[in-house]
Amino acid sequence: MLEKYRQSTPTSNELFKRALRLFAGGVNHNIRTFGLVHSGAYPPFMRAGKGSHVWDVDGNEYVDWWMAHYSAILGHSHPRVMKAISAQLMNGCHLGTLNEQQVVFGEKLQEAIPSMARMRFCSTGSEATMYAVRLARLHTGKPLVAKALGGWHGGNDTLAYHLKYPFNDEPFYNGVSFDFNDRDSVDNMIKKHGNDLAAIIVEPVLGAGGGIPPEPGFLPHLREITKAHDILLIFDEIVTGFRLRYGSAGKELFGVEPDLTTLGKIAAGGMPLGVYGGREDVMSLAAPGAERGRWVGGGTFSAHPLTMAAGAATLDQLRSMRGEYDALNKRGDRFRVRVNEVFEKIGVNALATGFGSIVFIHWFKHRLDSRPLTGGNIGEALNHDRLDLFQSLLLEEGVLGYHGLGAASFAHSDGDIEKTLRAIETVSRKMQTIKE
Ligand SMILES: Cc1ncc(COP(=O)(O)O)c(C=O)c1O
Repeated sequence: MLEKYRQSTPTSNELFKRALRLFAGGVNHNIRTFGLVHSGAYPPFMRAGKGSHVWDVDGNEYVDWWMAHYSAILGHSHPRVMKAISAQLMNGCHLGTLNEQQVVFGEKLQEAIPSMARMRFCSTGSEATMYAVRLARLHTGKPLVAKALGGWHGGNDTLAYHLKYPFNDEPFYNGVSFDFNDRDSVDNMIKKHGNDLAAIIVEPVLGAGGGIPPEPGFLPHLREITKAHDILLIFDEIVTGFRLRYGSAGKELFGVEPDLTTLGKIAAGGMPLGVYGGREDVMSLAAPGAERGRWVGGGTFSAHPLTMAAGAATLDQLRSMRGEYDALNKRGDRFRVRVNEVFEKIGVNALATGFGSIVFIHWFKHRLDSRPLTGGNIGEALNHDRLDLFQSLLLEEGVLGYHGLGAASFAHSDGDIEKTLRAIETVSRKMQTIKE
């Protein structure tokens, strides 16, 4: 199995052996095994990226759909962003004081997402969601948080629970869950826990939980029910922010304004960033002297000048391209339709889901007829081994992806799309000859 991959990636093989002696599981983010460890192989080590392509340490080229965990919507090494980082670096790396760049970047973010009356920068999305929930707890005086089954908001203790079906394999912490797109499950959760709930945190389009867009009325329902029960609504837009439009998806695409928003990834063009922001009365609890016994915000590397400079350049570029989002989203929509036509034609239990440029591919244990798609019904049907094999075999065809695939960037060409479709067809046919 994977002979072609093994033969063409000897340096990755060697490096992974060394990495295994250093890092738990050989990686610094579990996702970066790309399923290859489960297939008895090793992940590729990448050396460079340009536009929609990446090159590994043996010189193999891949069409990249993973795009730095969805963060590189402009493509890798965008000249405007690279130039801004290089220019900033000439002044030194990080001084640990206030810098002008944070004000410039913050103003651009606020202009794009006016509901962020006040915000705070940190270094990762995991911190941003943790602090957003902490603020909600301080503001409401209530202990619990709720998230969608399967929803990923980072590796913090606050929210890293109920990640994988059967969803009870993690410690519970102070959190409860509901099923995305299932109003009854939300209502039942509120009935049970509403008086103790400080916040509901949710992505407007569920990401890691299945790549599922919201059913009409689902997000408005969350808005109404949270308002009625003095619960804050937090939209985690760490993936959707600046991906589906210039700004946030919640208000402009789905018509719902949250109390707090979290951002990361794209917003700083791939430099380390987390942002949490929103209502002034809530955010003011993060100000010095207002802690009410809990510290909110910190971080040696918060508002890092390189991140701030990269973020400002990224937003300037994306703002100049704001009219191009519709075309990118339509491209993604059309691509998913074509992927599903391939699966249908070959007769495999696989499905492409997502919204706009976001493309998840799932392999299932059985046909999934339930609609609407929810984190629960997708999670129950997933065949992780087949998905791992699919991703591994895609590498042999020169395509890199995770969660089945990833997201299209503005740099993806028609040629990339056609090559990926051919790869998906070849791999799906091959998988029919490989026993489960
Ligand atoms: C929706 C969402 N929230 C939060 C995070 C955590 O961000 P980070 O990996 O920067 O800590 C992620 C990362 O994948 C994410 O997808």
